[in-house]
Amino acid sequence: MALVSKPKRPVISLQSSLSTTLCFIVVFTIPALLLLHTPSSSVCKNSFNQNKSWSGDLRTAEFAWNRLKFNQENPPSETLKIAVFSRKWPTSATPGGMERHAHTLHTALARRGHQVHVFTSPPDQDENVPRESQSFSPVIHWHEGEPGRWRYNKALEQYEAENNRREFDVIHTESVALPFHVARRVPNLVVSWHGIALESVQSSIYQDLARLPNEPISPAFNSSLHGVIPKVLNEIRFFRDYAHHVAISDSCGEMLRDVYQIPSRRVHVIVNGVNEKDFQEDLRLGNQFRAKIGVPQNASLVLGVAGRLVKDKGHPLLYEAFSKLKEKNSDVYLIVAGSGPWLQRYRDLGPQVIALGSMNPSELHAFYSSIDIFVNPTLRPQGLDLTLMEAMMSGKPVMASRFPSIKGTILVNDEFGFMFSPNVESLLEALELVVAEGSKRLSQRGKSCRDYASSMFTAQKMASAYERLFLCIKNETFCNYI
Ligand SMILES: *[C@@H]1O[C@H](CO)[C@@H](O)[C@H](O)[C@H]1NC(C)=O
Ligand SMILES: *[C@@H]1O[C@H](CO)[C@@H](O)[C@H](O)[C@H]1NC(C)=O
Ligand SMILES: *[C@@H]1O[C@H](CO)[C@@H](O)[C@H](O)[C@H]1NC(C)=O
Ligand SMILES: *[C@@H]1O[C@H](CO)[C@@H](O)[C@H](O)[C@H]1NC(C)=O
Repeated sequence: MALVSKPKRPVISLQSSLSTTLCFIVVFTIPALLLLHTPSSSVCKNSFNQNKSWSGDLRTAEFAWNRLKFNQENPPSETLKIAVFSRKWPTSATPGGMERHAHTLHTALARRGHQVHVFTSPPDQDENVPRESQSFSPVIHWHEGEPGRWRYNKALEQYEAENNRREFDVIHTESVALPFHVARRVPNLVVSWHGIALESVQSSIYQDLARLPNEPISPAFNSSLHGVIPKVLNEIRFFRDYAHHVAISDSCGEMLRDVYQIPSRRVHVIVNGVNEKDFQEDLRLGNQFRAKIGVPQNASLVLGVAGRLVKDKGHPLLYEAFSKLKEKNSDVYLIVAGSGPWLQRYRDLGPQVIALGSMNPSELHAFYSSIDIFVNPTLRPQGLDLTLMEAMMSGKPVMASRFPSIKGTILVNDEFGFMFSPNVESLLEALELVVAEGSKRLSQRGKSCRDYASSMFTAQKMASAYERLFLCIKNETFCNYI
């Protein structure tokens, strides 16, 4: 009986390089993703309020430091000299998330009296550079060269000169502004990761799934797929060269500890914050804004979305889901704040979509005040979009893609809003739930969001957590939290 004489070739070996890649990704990723979904043992997960009863060595804390209360002595117990390496320093009206983080954090620390020196690339020529020269501002060292082009060697030269004057207590780099072979030699270095390669594995999966059945895979995306796993492996190998790691979401902290194998005491979770005063709910302003942009008085519900209108922020999904939703709900409106390739398509959806283009900070404040709920359909789980914190700070509930970062740090309580899988059906289902619920209930949810956001996501909270970490690096006495 020669039943097994000639094994059949498995059907799967149709030589599609994409399926090979995806298999590869899946094989490597499933364990990682499972890890991400194991319930975390953090203190008071899902609790509304901060836990004030925790005490111990801060370096052992696996939860976000934002949950703790830090006494802000004025002036601080010690004045630190801090070096910051950032590829860019914001000079334009619409800076990226990483630059905004650097700016918000280090302006706050300088205002507290710390001596902050920022090493960054030359500003873009057409931008009018505010030479921040008052005493409580960071000192900005723009290196020479092409505008916006980061050259760490040039920045290091300036750093050395300043370090010779008086040694820096801590050095902070925004992601890999300082490469690992330099980082290796710096024991008092802190790196903040604004998105890591393991998160981009998921991003690749979601982006390919969001492709329409007859839509060809783009060459750029296809070639990026082949680099995804090597990039993760590469990161795992070089990340250990950085002495201290700050994860900007709870799930990123878990990945750094569990997958990247960085000793727990060197991984600290500090969530980004936004300026509380810039995002307060203002109903009157919201109503004025509605009238100004032409939302009719009889609108039953107003949804809002903000940010760059590009594919990987999930706009194809929202576009599709909202075109279906509006058919059955003629009094539901969508306000779109931001610009990008999807702007015109939103405009083509008719009067129920009000697409405003880019907005300045004060318009953005009015925008948040005018909506009933904020939608973020992103396909990129890297980092954590500040818009979610801004919306909650403005007293609005949020709807967002079900990513570990969002689930673990933002939508930690069902009261705060809704999560959906990043596909049209799931988003549409969530939108229908929201419509059925109505604006009154959403406004109650918004109040809980505001409470939570103002305890967790303020710029001041972020700055005091970083200050404490920097002090702890300088002098271990400060690592003890009572
Ligand atoms: C804080 O932690 C303590 C002990 O770990 C627990 O008993 C208490 O319920 C927690 N409080 C909140 C608000 O989660
Ligand atoms: C994807 O990239 C691989 C290798 O880079 C190539 O062999 C393959 O033809 C590409 N497939 C598509 C659909 O572009
Ligand atoms: C809302 O009011 C406008 C006039 O402002 C009217 O044209 C429209 O039909 C009304 N829509 C609904 C759903 O009542
Ligand atoms: C660390 O800080 C504490 C409290 O301010 C101080 O008493 C101690 O002398 C400091 N240690 C060093 C090594 O500077």
